Amino acid sequence: MIGLLDRLARPLLHALDPEDGHRLAIRMLKFAPLPRPAKDDSRLALRAFGLNFPNPVGIAAGFDKNAEAPDALLRLGFGFVEVGTITPLPQPGNPRPRLFRLDADAGVINRLGFNSQGADAVLRRLAARAVTAAPSSSAGAAAWGAGVVGINVGANKDSPDRIADYVALIERFAAVASYVTVNISSPNTPGLRNLQQAAVLDDLLARVVDARERVARNAGPTPVLLKIAPDLSLPDLDDVVGIARARRVDGMIVGNTTVTRPPSLRETAKAKEAGGLSGRPLLPLANRMLAETYVRVEDAFPLIGAGGIDSGPSALAKIRAGASLVQVYSGLVFRGLGLVAEIKNALVAALERERQDSLKEFVGADAAAVTAEAWPG
Ligand SMILES: Cc1cc2nc3c(=O)[nH]c(=O)nc-3n(C[C@H](O)[C@H](O)[C@H](O)COP(=O)(O)O)c2cc1C
Repeated sequence: MIGLLDRLARPLLHALDPEDGHRLAIRMLKFAPLPRPAKDDSRLALRAFGLNFPNPVGIAAGFDKNAEAPDALLRLGFGFVEVGTITPLPQPGNPRPRLFRLDADAGVINRLGFNSQGADAVLRRLAARAVTAAPSSSAGAAAWGAGVVGINVGANKDSPDRIADYVALIERFAAVASYVTVNISSPNTPGLRNLQQAAVLDDLLARVVDARERVARNAGPTPVLLKIAPDLSLPDLDDVVGIARARRVDGMIVGNTTVTRPPSLRETAKAKEAGGLSGRPLLPLANRMLAETYVRVEDAFPLIGAGGIDSGPSALAKIRAGASLVQVYSGLVFRGLGLVAEIKNALVAALERERQDSLKEFVGADAAAVTAEAWPG
């Protein structure tokens, strides 16, 4: 079914303007009669942030911004789904065109700018899902057993108090989210990345963690993750990790899209478009920043690795650089939905080859080596 959907859809989706293609893909997923996926190999299962994942391959934020198809995405075999970024109030994002496919590089540039239907609409959708998924559960989203669906939250562009936006979204979504990601790393909302600066970040995380503790009384525990940019300097990364550890966040996602443009890019005209670059050209920088983060975190919490995964080997490299879980987005555009099974099969094959029972053995195995390489350029 997935193969068929892919074969039918991909030529059509690639013929469309990228944003129209994406909308059509979401619509197809919403209505496709997808069967339940085959059970994952038990060696892929893991526990992180207090949650149980059937496999470590997630779909990254930005694909299903408004939580229209989280269950369809779980049925495609993802181990978890991150919806969002959601902003408190609806906002249209930047003017179109704002999404560009760099076909020759297998990369994407986007400057969507947090186009979001807003918290009310998304909350209604997720609450309806919660009722269907677990009619008898009152113990909070983490107890559903209906798949891990995290929510990525951001601030409105014109918000007078951006930190208050994050706090409000954690309070509102805790009951329907497996976890919440605090996204301070989108390059497309002017000034947003400034929230990564030490003094501001400390204030943000203090208030966010306070909200996490407050909502836990009614909603049960909701892990809070911090998603960072791959463009931080290493001294800034020292600060960010130090503050994240001191404030006891539950994990980090490394990372978002990059505003840099590797000289290797072949689509030189499109490379000049403003926005964040993702996909294959991001892999070396994303892996370097992941490894740099891993060595600084010292196992205080697990990391999710995102950026440039488009094959089994690139997913394994991400885990070996320090990721307990991985997320994909741009790779799906070029490789199709079969990528999910390809990655899972490659991970099982690696476990068999190395005679290991769990991916834990691979996590961070290459981190020190990656940090010793020349800086990716
Ligand atoms: C079109 C597009 C939209 C995105 N929107 C978001 C978003 O709303 N929030 C977010 O945290 N990341 C967003 N991202 C970043 C992805 O979640 C991911 O971190 C990044 O693309 C690197 O992974 P990839 O190389 O597999 O695409 C977006 C990426 C793309 C390509």
